[in-house]
Amino acid sequence: MSNTLVGHPLDLRAWIEDTRKLGELTEVSGADWDLEIGAISELNVKKDLPNALLFDDIPGYPKGHRVMTCSTSSPARLSSILRLPIEMTNAGLTQSLRGKPKQWQGLAADYPPVSVATGPVFENVQEKESVDVLAFPSPLWHEKDGGRYIGTGCMVVTKDLDSDWVNVGTYRVMVHDKNHVGLDMIPGKHGAIQYDKYMKAGKPFPVAIVVGCDPLGYLISGIEVPFGMCEYNYIGAILKQPVSVVRGQLTDLPIPSHAEIVLEGWAYPGDERIEGPFGEFHGYYPGKPATAPVVTVEKVYFRNNPIIMGSPPAKPPNDYSYSKAVMRSALLMDALIASGVPDVQAVWAHEIGGARMFNVVSIKQRYAGHARQAGHILSQCGVGAYMSRYSVVVDEDIDPSNMQEVMWAVATRSDPEMDIDITRRGMGSKNDPMSIAYTYKAPFNSKAIIDACRPFDFINEFPEVAEASKQLQETVRAKWKHIL
Ligand SMILES: Cc1cc2nc3c(=O)[nH]c(=O)nc-3n(C[C@H](O)[C@H](O)[C@H](O)COP(=O)(O)O)c2cc1C
Repeated sequence: MSNTLVGHPLDLRAWIEDTRKLGELTEVSGADWDLEIGAISELNVKKDLPNALLFDDIPGYPKGHRVMTCSTSSPARLSSILRLPIEMTNAGLTQSLRGKPKQWQGLAADYPPVSVATGPVFENVQEKESVDVLAFPSPLWHEKDGGRYIGTGCMVVTKDLDSDWVNVGTYRVMVHDKNHVGLDMIPGKHGAIQYDKYMKAGKPFPVAIVVGCDPLGYLISGIEVPFGMCEYNYIGAILKQPVSVVRGQLTDLPIPSHAEIVLEGWAYPGDERIEGPFGEFHGYYPGKPATAPVVTVEKVYFRNNPIIMGSPPAKPPNDYSYSKAVMRSALLMDALIASGVPDVQAVWAHEIGGARMFNVVSIKQRYAGHARQAGHILSQCGVGAYMSRYSVVVDEDIDPSNMQEVMWAVATRSDPEMDIDITRRGMGSKNDPMSIAYTYKAPFNSKAIIDACRPFDFINEFPEVAEASKQLQETVRAKWKHIL
């Protein structure tokens, strides 16, 4: 099916209408920001094909002040967001995504954002004493969260101190009070690198937080776009037209002209406060609340009837685990091929590992050492290194996205002593639930590479699979379709 969003600018409302036409939008009236929106969204994504949810009539807020969740959780919606032909199945989407991230990355330089004089985002402006972040229905997503989070499916726009590089990253944003929010950027993330430079120079860090946008915005801000590249360029390459931006009146940072809500301000040197805890993508609340930079919000821009784009993490499957699995699998596949691993068949970054901690690649083995090469690169390449824990390599007859088949290969084609390599002091995270048991003084982890391929030196003698041949299966399925 063709994608009717092709040619549209970055606008959440156009995407909502498209989703309504696809029959994948559910409107919910009267759910409370206090835990109800979070719990409804969490239960919704446990369904087989969850709809996107648009919450209105939120108690305590004017009608029209809305929250959207579950935007990226189906193949049809994800292909619509990525401006690909509409795919109804996971296999179809994965197939049409093949090679696309590499193509988009290659084209990104041709699509710098274009500044326009004004846009719907400036329909309403709060400034000075009128700034009130609490005027929007930020949910308390999970019972043990440290506060209400206005930023989950958001885009945090920042600029490098000593170059023109603008970065757009998805980092969670907690409301402290009516004009202060906390920003949690993990060390090493591009926004955190830029922040550190300003702090070392003793200068306020300019920030614009886009709290509602076409979901393509946070989808791309939430993946590993190369260091130094602006996510707006990458998004432009997907749209095949530049992102239209207006300039923040305080910081001059570029903001999508059709954004729903934008918080603009500065993180001042030394202003860090306790932030979190927050239910995380791997399914746990990380250890203890820690300090994080505070943004003093000095201007708020918003459209009439603004929509917060929510994308709450939780025990997988969660709001964005499906899109992460699809996107990271495509990026890992491109990374493996770019690093010279031949005959990569497919890659899958499993939702149960938050699309980071349990990744599988299938290869057609060509030479001794091929499987280990693929496994180690999967575990350590730029897109894959952060928090990777188990990287599994399987033969081409195994579907890496099918956990039953993957674990069958692990159980029957690997010998623990011979086939599990462990690398130490790899790239971990302060948010790793296992870090409680680590003795490292910095966020390292260890990584296992499981070679679950038939041993290459005995590949021709390895026992044959006891399963009906593809041809026999097809014949029998055709003849016995009334019972199969
Ligand atoms: C919904 C969502 C929430 C996220 N929250 C955070 C967060 O709070 N802190 C963080 O460092 N990364 C978070 N991430 C992951 C980053 O967005 C991701 O690593 C991205 O590559 C960061 O951008 P950067 O590479 O420009 O730093 C989140 C991703 C998504 C999709």
